[in-house]
Amino acid sequence: MNMIFTRRSIRSFNDTPVEAEKLDRILRAGMQAPSAHNKQPWQFLVVRNEETREFLSHVTPYTSHIAKAPVCIVVLGEMSAERIKEFIQQDLSACTQNILLQTAEEGLGGLWMGLYPDESRVQKVKEYFNLPDDIIPFCLISIGHSDRKNEFVDRYAASKIHYEKY
Ligand SMILES: Cc1cc2nc3c(=O)[nH]c(=O)nc-3n(C[C@H](O)[C@H](O)[C@H](O)COP(=O)(O)O)c2cc1C
Repeated sequence: MNMIFTRRSIRSFNDTPVEAEKLDRILRAGMQAPSAHNKQPWQFLVVRNEETREFLSHVTPYTSHIAKAPVCIVVLGEMSAERIKEFIQQDLSACTQNILLQTAEEGLGGLWMGLYPDESRVQKVKEYFNLPDDIIPFCLISIGHSDRKNEFVDRYAASKIHYEKY
């Protein structure tokens, strides 16, 4: 069964550091995502620093475990790269999902935490990193080794599929 089916949100990590070559493949996977007009409007801030992770763990009530994750990727959006600005969320979501799937493929645990379009979350992160006006922090992804495994849960629902007519 491939990683699309077994990937899960992992929120607890052990102390094993994330290997540089795994992180490299994870970022490459993010950049392979499809994007509107092939604009690839993503950038990444890779955070291992403890103090910075501590800050990120307080950005929302749902990010506390970042303090204990060895790596956190801040997925950034480059607004001026988009021909049609409204596509930014779709492009960055495709990129984020690729990152999560490669993370699982590498035998690691990962978690997507939303920032954009919540104004207060976006502002906090923009100010902390002194991001240019054009760059938006889209989401946070914590990554690490975990004793919890990625595992399949069946979400198939025939009732959600409509053939030919609604
Ligand atoms: C846009 C988005 C934002 C999310 N934000 C958070 C978050 O802030 N904190 C968190 O613990 N999980 C967050 N999640 C993870 C979801 O809770 C999780 O994907 C969902 O419960 C399904 O579980 P699974 O990922 O294990 O399949 C987010 C997921 C998405 C797609």
